Amino acid sequence: MVYVSGAFLPIEEASIPVMDRGFLFGDGIYEVTAVIAGRLVDNEAHLQRLDRSLREIDIPNPHSLGTWTAIQKELVALNGLTEGLIYIEVTRGVSERDFLSPADLKPTVVIFTQAKPVRTNATLAKGAQVITLPDLRWARRDIKSTSLLAQVLAKRSAAAAGVSEAWMVEDGMITEGASSTAFVITPAGEIITRPLSHAVLPGVTRRAILRLLEERELTFVERPFSVEEALKAREAFFTSASTIVMPVVTIDGHPIGDGTPGPLAMQLRDLYIEAALD
Ligand code: PDD
Repeated sequence: MVYVSGAFLPIEEASIPVMDRGFLFGDGIYEVTAVIAGRLVDNEAHLQRLDRSLREIDIPNPHSLGTWTAIQKELVALNGLTEGLIYIEVTRGVSERDFLSPADLKPTVVIFTQAKPVRTNATLAKGAQVITLPDLRWARRDIKSTSLLAQVLAKRSAAAAGVSEAWMVEDGMITEGASSTAFVITPAGEIITRPLSHAVLPGVTRRAILRLLEERELTFVERPFSVEEALKAREAFFTSASTIVMPVVTIDGHPIGDGTPGPLAMQLRDLYIEAALD
């Protein structure tokens, strides 16, 4: 079952009009929340980011936080989803193709679920390999836009290289993963991730991980880091709703640390999942 603008429908019966601006212009916002043991993980933060993204591009938020949550929970129950992802998309709505649109347009809402392993992951045992690529995205990456062409191309390059993620680079510095936040741990033990700005998505998992580090009085620094610095890291990992915390074992073919999943990344992963189940 999926949810489309007010109705729960079997996916075969659900459709979006050809003139939807999400389809024509990528004029929309999305969110992805993990579901573990039937529970929505960090969902309030995802819905707050959805609200912020919508405000930034002047699409009215069609629902309150409470209504969004109720719809999501109903869909999770209807689909009997215990583990996987729930995806929300809100587009500016439907109108004849023109860059400008009528002011009173009703946003289109689509929600679907995907059953897939989240707690475990086929890549986890060996760790992820990543390549670095130029960051081809636009200048407002803090907005979770459905215009994802640069990320699709980065993921295709990663797949062609036989690796699972691409870390994107601007002015010699790593911005983030194609669909994740990048972290490195220096040989001195400093945990680094890039500070929030228009250059990166404010990751919900990133925020939760920084809180876990704070609680444990582990020092972290929010600053840009270069590819050279990443290659010398003791550990590297990336975070996202779908991968939680994923240790990185090679960057551009160079082993990170001893080339096996880093202990701190694995520990943070366990702690995050534990907190989600709490
Ligand atoms: N991607 N950076 C980018 C560019 C992302 O697309 C994502 C998430 C993240 C991590 O954000 P969070 O921790 O809030 O999931 C960082 C989702 C999972 C996706 O596009 O499928």
